[in-house]
Amino acid sequence: MRLRKKHIALFWLLASAGLVFQACRKDEKAPLKKTPYQRTYINPYTIFPEKYGLPQLPQDNPLSEEGVYLGRMLFYDPVLSLDSTISCATCHNQKNAFADPVKYSTGIFGLESTRNASALYNLAYSRVFFWDARQKTLREQVLEPIQAHNEMALTLPLLQQRLKRIPRYKEWFAKAFDSEPDIFNMALAMEQFMLTIVSKDSRFTDFWPGKFSKLTAQEREGALLFNGLVDEDPVTGALSGGADCFHCHGSVFVQANNPNFGGIASNGLNPLVTDKGFGAISGLSSDIGTFKTPSLLNIALTAPYMHDGRFKTLDEVIDHYSDHIRFDAPNLHPQIKVHGPKQRLLTPTQKAALKAYLLTMTDTVFINNPAYSNPFK
Ligand code: HEC
Ligand code: HEC
Repeated sequence: MRLRKKHIALFWLLASAGLVFQACRKDEKAPLKKTPYQRTYINPYTIFPEKYGLPQLPQDNPLSEEGVYLGRMLFYDPVLSLDSTISCATCHNQKNAFADPVKYSTGIFGLESTRNASALYNLAYSRVFFWDARQKTLREQVLEPIQAHNEMALTLPLLQQRLKRIPRYKEWFAKAFDSEPDIFNMALAMEQFMLTIVSKDSRFTDFWPGKFSKLTAQEREGALLFNGLVDEDPVTGALSGGADCFHCHGSVFVQANNPNFGGIASNGLNPLVTDKGFGAISGLSSDIGTFKTPSLLNIALTAPYMHDGRFKTLDEVIDHYSDHIRFDAPNLHPQIKVHGPKQRLLTPTQKAALKAYLLTMTDTVFINNPAYSNPFK
């Protein structure tokens, strides 16, 4: 405790000495005082809806209008790639809820990504990023695609040099961070922009958790399937009742973030795993073949589906959960395994109802929101 106080005192001493020193120097050089730029900080309550609650925002990177705008420019700027052809938005398209409507994305020199590009929204509520959950913060996450050989293939020092030469970045780094363009603040600006991407205006969000009068009869049937437990007849063993999607795609985010319960899981795609997913990150055999559970908001816009983009349509996804769960998949989630190896066979009517419910999750306000669009257009 004492030591800490001492440290703090020392810090203030040095800091104030520095200020005095700087002030003198400034006065010598420029007798006319320049008023520092006043940036506009954003009240998080204006961005995140009451229904969602405030997310845990990074304390050391407060959102400002300038920081978010800078991050948005960087997101849409191909200067972040070696040959200046690829921007983040090349693979993350607003019209597709910032996913890419192809199985694998094409990055620099025509090279392909090895997983399906993630949709980007409500990231402020996510605690892990990428299908294999390998990153914990967005500021670290952004540095990966920039340097990946098959995405943007640039080095960070070269990118810093480039940004320093571009007048609009000199201007906006100064406004957002009082700094010259540098990689650290670049990552913070992009973090700010991505934190503000919020999807909140679907019919689903309005319905959730139980305003059934807002749904059609078919959608209501879908809601009951999605949010209902699977029943097992004690005599015949036949499965009926719900289709139990909510354990992993729960809450108003239609996503489980709790790693202990479906946040990172196997949904029975593969008996033999070529992509180890989270298992390659944790190094545990009990995690092999498990992946981050995606949110299903905007699911109608983000085809193809799963980490490898194997399913082209929602019908194929529903067929998977109904008819084709691989009970021999390593680390299949207990919630799916519990009634195995019997499939929870849905009738065509039930499949259509489940799909109708998934279609209520589309947010057209979000995909047309000018705050997230290309600022260069
Ligand atoms: C060449 C295509 C491509 C480019 C360019 C690209 N991404 Fe991605 N992005 C992907 C793919 C593919 C994934 C999934 C990769 C994985 O999980 O291993 C992904 C995942 C992400 C995620 C994780 C989302 C989540 O919920 O887990 C974020 C955030 C993201 N990208 C942001 C960015 C930003 C910011 C940029 C620009 C600096 C960018 N991406 C550039 C293809 C791309
Ligand atoms: C045990 C947890 C769990 C349950 C239960 C579950 N899912 Fe999933 N879901 C996942 C995981 C994990 C993924 C990603 C898997 C991957 O890509 O390897 C996923 C992916 C999806 C996707 C594709 C998302 C995308 O962006 O590509 C859809 C759609 C989906 N699930 C719908 C459903 C429906 C409908 C149900 C109920 C019938 C359901 N899920 C039940 C865990 C689950």
